[in-house]
Amino acid sequence: MILVTGGAGFIGANFVLDWLAQSDGPVLNLDKLTYAGNLENLASLQGDPRHVFVQGDIADGALLQGLLTEHRPRAVVNFAAESHVDRSIHGPEDFIQTNIVGTFRLLEAVRAHWGGLDEAGKAAFRFLHVSTDEVYGSLAATDSAFTEEHRYEPNSPYSASKAASDHLVRAYHHTYGLPVLTTNCSNNYGPYHFPEKLIPLMIVNALAGKPLPVYGDGMQIRDWLYVKDHCSAIRRVLAAGQLGEVYNVGGWNEKPNIEIVQTLCALLDELRPRADGKSYREQISYVKDRPGHDRRYAIDARKLEKELGWKPAETFETGIRKTVQWYLDHPDWVAHVQSGSYRDWVSKQYR
Ligand code: NAD
Ligand code: DAU
Repeated sequence: MILVTGGAGFIGANFVLDWLAQSDGPVLNLDKLTYAGNLENLASLQGDPRHVFVQGDIADGALLQGLLTEHRPRAVVNFAAESHVDRSIHGPEDFIQTNIVGTFRLLEAVRAHWGGLDEAGKAAFRFLHVSTDEVYGSLAATDSAFTEEHRYEPNSPYSASKAASDHLVRAYHHTYGLPVLTTNCSNNYGPYHFPEKLIPLMIVNALAGKPLPVYGDGMQIRDWLYVKDHCSAIRRVLAAGQLGEVYNVGGWNEKPNIEIVQTLCALLDELRPRADGKSYREQISYVKDRPGHDRRYAIDARKLEKELGWKPAETFETGIRKTVQWYLDHPDWVAHVQSGSYRDWVSKQYR
């Protein structure tokens, strides 16, 4: 069994679904079910005995100790986090609590569990921490992409809290010998992406006839990776990564935000044309910029490719088309996540 934390969120749910589709190894899924956690993401696993779901907090040491003792997982994959930069600007506290204190408590519980294993169990055990390229800060237009050696320069409360968690993970390896692995990935997109983030927000707003809010000049650059490629990278690092090492994960796919929005409009124009025959581009609306907005991220994923042989399977063109189609095919999922709390967030952020 492996323990996955945050497995009801966007990437965690994709990871659990893919893991169970590709192996018989059971998954213990610990998720607090915050606004971002959604059991509908895991609906296809209902009745599957290989998936054990527990609602709980990674900061709950007693719960963690009980789960580790009962289920004796051979690995922990830590996705659980507060993940939205804009929310971290409005209210950083939850980010400090989950991303820093939560990761610390998880590390403590895992350290105690690992310390009690026999030598073979200790050698086989892995703690994989899922992190972000945002810990490296922002690049200028001509800078080369982030390598694993790039210094940490986090700029938002979110990225600072993720950076702190990365440092704790590193320290637990260095000090206690805990068998850790860290992945730092670029922007993901794909099925089950909560529509507070750029790509799903633009799709659901476009279909609802609402404005498509582009921050600032729309020329900020992100490096986009289809979520299932992120999941395959994590599986590869878990299977073959060198202990204590960090692996950057990315798709070599830098694009300015406005180009992403225009691509989404073009796909929707083709797949679900507006009733009035006009383009969804008409809905694009430039709005106030995000405070401290990082200008550019770009990931150098050569280490993962050279050392572990990983490459993404999707191009941006294939991945983004699949993603738009997924949202068109899942109107019920979209309607259900746009609950009262979602509407409160949208009115606070875009008022
Ligand atoms: P998400 O917000 O969609 O999901 C986070 C999940 O964690 C939710 O299910 C939530 O309920 C759960 N959670 C939150 N606090 C918890 C707690 N205290 N205890 C247990 N569960 C808790 O996030 P995501 O986009 O799926 O990101 C997953 C991880 O990947 C995060 O660590 C994030 O930093 C990292 N990451 C995300 C991206 C991206 O583009 N989305 C890119 C690189 C790295
Ligand atoms: O780089 C990895 C990170 O990518 C992850 O660690 C984060 O968890 C994830 O949320 C994501 O962070 P970003 O801030 O890059 O993602 P977001 O989708 O919020 O924004 C992408 C870009 O689009 C960013 O430059 C801000 C811009 N944007 C976003 C929203 C929500 C807009 O222009 N308008 C919007 O309404």
